[in-house]
Amino acid sequence: MKGLIIVGSAKRNSHTNALSQYLKGQIEEKDHEVHIFDLAERPLHMLDFTGQNPVVDEYTKNAETLKQLADEADFMILGTPNYHGSYSGILKNALDHLTMDQFKMKPVGLVNNSGGIVSAEPLSHLRLIVRSLLGIAVPTQIATHDSDYEALEDGSYYLANDEFQLRARLFVDQILSFAESSPYEHLK
Ligand SMILES: Cc1cc2nc3c(=O)[nH]c(=O)nc-3n(C[C@H](O)[C@H](O)[C@H](O)COP(=O)(O)O)c2cc1C
Repeated sequence: MKGLIIVGSAKRNSHTNALSQYLKGQIEEKDHEVHIFDLAERPLHMLDFTGQNPVVDEYTKNAETLKQLADEADFMILGTPNYHGSYSGILKNALDHLTMDQFKMKPVGLVNNSGGIVSAEPLSHLRLIVRSLLGIAVPTQIATHDSDYEALEDGSYYLANDEFQLRARLFVDQILSFAESSPYEHLK
């Protein structure tokens, strides 16, 4: 199985990236491949069909890479910080660069991190988007808080909370099980 984790934070070394790294480790332990596409490291243009605005080649290439990885993925994970009670605009823009072709009947896991009051609301909002893209948002989701992480010397974080580590493992088991069983293959 191949997976793709899209990280929608505006910050490099975000908590959402740290959570994604933890999930990646769990997925790889189970001998599956997964790629993290962190939008703070590989930004995209705002979706723009005018053809009249400046184009940064690197951003265009990033969008092509994202699409290719999403095409190849058997499952996806969307990771977002809580921005104004919802998922980030950066993540929404990335999803706007994709279509149902990349999501149709694929399992999609949802994770987010809040710095204020912990909230799963961004994930409820993302569920609607995944439905519109014809993906299958799996029931287990993860909503962490900054305080669930500890900082490393290089400025990055790692997921330190035991309960969330356990939840992350359950989350990975569930999404892999959906991807492996793939009962909807004939509906693609
Ligand atoms: C534009 C913006 C809006 C935010 N809105 C909220 C919010 O509504 N609730 C909240 O708990 N934190 C909010 N935050 C704080 C972020 O959730 C917090 O910085 C968190 O650590 C981001 O996670 P990250 O490190 O994965 O980017 C906001 C931050 C930004 C930049």
